[in-house]
Amino acid sequence: VTDLDNAAIRSAYRRYAPMYDWAFGPVLDSGRDALAEELQALAPKRILEVGVGTGRALARCAASELQCGLDLSMDMLQRAAAVLPGETDRAVPLICGDAEKLPFASQSFDCVTLPYVLSVTPSPQMLLLEAQRVCTSGGHILVLNHFRSGSLLGLLERVLSPFAKSMGFRPNLDSAQLLAGRHWSILKERRVNVFNLTKLVVLRNCPPIAPTEGDARRET
Ligand SMILES: C[S@@+](CC[C@H](N)C(=O)[O-])C[C@H]1O[C@@H](n2cnc3c(N)ncnc32)[C@H](O)[C@@H]1O
Repeated sequence: VTDLDNAAIRSAYRRYAPMYDWAFGPVLDSGRDALAEELQALAPKRILEVGVGTGRALARCAASELQCGLDLSMDMLQRAAAVLPGETDRAVPLICGDAEKLPFASQSFDCVTLPYVLSVTPSPQMLLLEAQRVCTSGGHILVLNHFRSGSLLGLLERVLSPFAKSMGFRPNLDSAQLLAGRHWSILKERRVNVFNLTKLVVLRNCPPIAPTEGDARRET
C-alpha cells in the first residue's frame, strides 16, 4: 500500500496533536474502555501499545509489570508523556519508533494492543507481522479499528479513500482480508463505539514452531 508513508503520518499527527483529544477523544472512548476491559480479563504482565498517540487508551489499562508505548509522532508522544506515569516504579517507557520495524526482540511482550492504528500505518500487514513477532507464543494481540462497512457508509468510505494520504487515515480497510489465514486464532470479535462502527478483535498468537536441531537430526 503506497497511499500513506511515515512522513505523511508525522505531518498529519503534527496537525492533529493539539486537538486530538478533543476531536477523537470522547467519541472513541467506549472502544478504548472495551479494550481495557478485555485486558483486565487477560491480565498480561508485559504490554506494548503500538500507536500510543496521546496515551488515551493506555491510560485506561490496569497496572501490569510493564506497560510500554510506541509511536512515530513525537508531537503525539509529548502529550502521552503528560498523562502517563513518569519517573515512578510504574513509569511507562514511551518510544519514538516505527511499528513496522519494532525495536524489540522477538517474544518480548505477552500482549500487544493496536488501538486505532491499523488504518493509519503505511502497511497494516507489516505492522501485524511485527506485532506477532514481538508477542509471545500463546500471548494476545488486541486490534481496535474501523474496517470497511457495507451499505451507504461503505460508499462514503470509497469516496474518501483517495484522500487517505492527506487525512492520515485509510477509511476502507478490509478486516476479513487482513486478519484471515494467519498463525493466530480469533478468540473474540465485538462491535464497539457509536453505531457499532469499530471492531475489537482479540487474537491468540500461535506462530508456527521453528524446527529444532533435534527435529533436523531425526529427519536424517
Ligand atoms: C488514530 S491515532 C491512535 C492513538 C491512540 N492509540 C488512541 O487510542 O487514541 C494513531 C497513532 O498511530 C501512530 N502511527 C501510525 N503509524 C505508525 C507506525 N508505523 N509506527 C508507529 N506509530 C504509528 C500515529 O502517529 C498516531 O499517533
